[in-house]
Amino acid sequence: MRIERNLGMDLVRATEAAALRSGRWMGRGDKIGADQAAVDAMRLALDSVPMNGVVVIGEGEKDEAPMLYVGERVGSGDGPEMDVAVDPVEGTTLLAEGMPGAIAVVAIAERGALYNWQGIAYMDKLAVGERAKGVIDINAPVAYNIRAVARTLGKQLEDVTVVVLDRPRHKDLIKEIRETGARIKLILHGDVSAGIMTAIENPPADILMGIGGAPEAVITAAALKCMGGEIQCKIWPRNDDERAKIAELGLDVNKVFTTKDLVSGENVYLAATGITPGEFLRGTEYFGGGARTHSVVMRSRSGTVRYIDATHRWDKLMRISNMPYG
Ligand code: FBP
Repeated sequence: MRIERNLGMDLVRATEAAALRSGRWMGRGDKIGADQAAVDAMRLALDSVPMNGVVVIGEGEKDEAPMLYVGERVGSGDGPEMDVAVDPVEGTTLLAEGMPGAIAVVAIAERGALYNWQGIAYMDKLAVGERAKGVIDINAPVAYNIRAVARTLGKQLEDVTVVVLDRPRHKDLIKEIRETGARIKLILHGDVSAGIMTAIENPPADILMGIGGAPEAVITAAALKCMGGEIQCKIWPRNDDERAKIAELGLDVNKVFTTKDLVSGENVYLAATGITPGEFLRGTEYFGGGARTHSVVMRSRSGTVRYIDATHRWDKLMRISNMPYG
């Protein structure tokens, strides 16, 4: 019997590289510089992943992003045909302002498996971990979902924690959650980490609710597919232009996109590395001559979730790669 290669173990080198390079921009107030450092490092490291990858979720269209643009081919060119979703820095403001929770993340799945948003900006999201899978309904009232999750987790309503992006658009949502008595964890950015958090052991939150980035929904779905959780979401147009665009694309704002709609494949891998310290992953820690990273690698087929602590030494890294680490 042949043990299949776990591409996640190759992918994690790309998220480590992005975290190592961009972590140095922590708190420097420069989102663009921080993101560029991560993009450069991730792009180079992806070349050594044995796959025929095409970026379906990336840094933008080709004319606006010179690297990791949608449609760019990445990977060594040998190996399986894969869709690639990258977020070299998820939480660029968190990184630039030196706040917790920025991560580097990549997800891949067989060709055609990752939903391509074609320019849709925002989704309304509802996500839970494995123990609450199957009991939520994005079309139901907020209180219904919180009660359903409380029941299935055997928790009092007051002990359920809902994680929500702190945005004016969530004023009513927050009010409705508060009326149930549930706890709220407000976050400034980073709803990918927040969604994944609902599925980890001893989760700091039980449910993710609210409107966030559409590409981030696909990456969250990839993680939840690996970890056994669930996401449901609906397109959330901001204005008439976006409504017109959605209609033009033949999409429907009432359609509920499930985990399976966002990630239809069965061979999904995700790797993420902490950049700034967070609840889900520790941040990159620098010491004289090198740094330590903290990452997670997941694979849907086996359900394996591995946490990887790695020590990197600049002198040795520079000898084996052309990255200016030191
Ligand atoms: P960036 O890393 O691209 O800045 O995204 C951070 C983020 O907080 C996402 O996690 C979230 O989905 C989205 O932005 C929310 O968008 P907005 O800040 O416009 O509400």
